[in-house]
Amino acid sequence: MPLDIVIGAQWGDEGKGRFVDLLSVSADYVARYNGGDNAGHTVTVGKQTFKLHLIPSGIIHPHTTGIIGNGVVINPAILLSEIDELSQAGITASPERLHISHAAHLITPGHLALDAAQEAARGRGAIGTTLRGIGPAYTDKVARSGLRSGQMMNLDKFAGDFEAHILSVNQRLTSLHSAEPLDPETTTRQYIEYARRLKPYIREVSRELSEALKNGKRVLAEGAQGTLLDLDHGTYPYVTSSSPTAAGALLGLGLGIGSVERVVGVTKAFQTRVGAGPFPSEVFGDTALRLRGTGEHPWDEFGTTTGRPRRVGWLDIVLLRYALRINGITELAITKLDILSGLEQIKICTGYRSAGQELYDLPYGPGEIEAYSPVYEVLPAWQADLRGCRNWEDLPGAARRFILRIEELSGIPVRLISVGPEREQFVEVS
Ligand code: GDP
Ligand code: IMO
Ligand code: MG
Repeated sequence: MPLDIVIGAQWGDEGKGRFVDLLSVSADYVARYNGGDNAGHTVTVGKQTFKLHLIPSGIIHPHTTGIIGNGVVINPAILLSEIDELSQAGITASPERLHISHAAHLITPGHLALDAAQEAARGRGAIGTTLRGIGPAYTDKVARSGLRSGQMMNLDKFAGDFEAHILSVNQRLTSLHSAEPLDPETTTRQYIEYARRLKPYIREVSRELSEALKNGKRVLAEGAQGTLLDLDHGTYPYVTSSSPTAAGALLGLGLGIGSVERVVGVTKAFQTRVGAGPFPSEVFGDTALRLRGTGEHPWDEFGTTTGRPRRVGWLDIVLLRYALRINGITELAITKLDILSGLEQIKICTGYRSAGQELYDLPYGPGEIEAYSPVYEVLPAWQADLRGCRNWEDLPGAARRFILRIEELSGIPVRLISVGPEREQFVEVS
């Protein structure tokens, strides 16, 4: 059963979008299964750059059908503006080719206000969320008081449910956070309008995808965020509120376990993170500036969704091995190898030092890594510009050694390497 899953093996922004775009060539369906518009997936095709937040990146290929699964939380305002932006760029995201699960939950202005109030209340312990209402929307889902997109099918009932939701949020905002309440009437009117536009997109996507798989169609599941931001398996509490890991794809699309063929783990050739939380191989100073860039190039390390500078560091193999285990990754796709060109030396974090001991695994998962200091292996660097490389043989010897060392340390084959943001800037390793 041909379900392929593309997941982030780090803290998000690994370059999932660019590889989903590549792999969508042979997919019939491309499906987002987790997160919301906290995601920002960049795809560069010629002179056009798309930054997708909710709609799966594969929609750019006209032969695909896009799916937003039950595991996603949807801000209707963002979804509708993304549909409009795509349409202006000549890409149709009509109800015929974009299907939204009836069981996906909605993000409301109430969730946005709660996200801001909760982050402010955390003070120095703030998570550094994207302030997109993600945590509060999933909180309502788990509390069994959320609003699902299927409720938009019946506008009269939805109006009542929506207003009741805003009144309940207002209670939380005023009593717990001394924040301003929202206007129930205006927000309800606004959401009725969104519901009118979104109704035709709503489907039972689990059934649709299961039948497609049975009929031999190919489904590509596009993960948002990354393994280390997973609610259960990430650097808790500095995580997002969904399941970006491979198992999340089955849960977030309503598919059975037997359907998976490949799990592609996307990892940068180095490590980045936006927001707070532990990061043992983080670097500062000149090396950080060199890895992050100054913002002059579109691929420099500044958040796609929030514009925040990303924290940067060396590739962490302990965390990568952990991601392989948690997801059952079958192959690796490495991005941004071109960024390492011209460095004096390249480091890989192969272990940690803690209380006089060296660790090569995580005794209690990644939540505990705050106190660990990195053990590095130093590899020779290369000076050549890699952006024109298209074959394994085109890569300089030191770049090939770097990739082979990652394979050796992780035990997983590297199948794809990208050397620039553009569609054709990649090397397939046979
Ligand atoms: P995602 O969230 O995992 O899809 O990743 P983002 O789109 O947030 O961030 C990845 C950034 O790196 C984007 O600006 C991409 O255009 C860019 N990018 C992807 N692959 C490469 C690469 O191989 N080299 C360079 N220089 N940029 C890349
Ligand atoms: P893509 O799909 C990188 C981070 C936030 C914050 C934490 C919790 O583009 O890889 P949230 O708003 O989800 O409650 O914030 O998660 N975060 C991301 N970091 N890439 C993302 O998505 C992210 N989505 C959320 O910065 O640390
Ligand atoms: Mg991103």
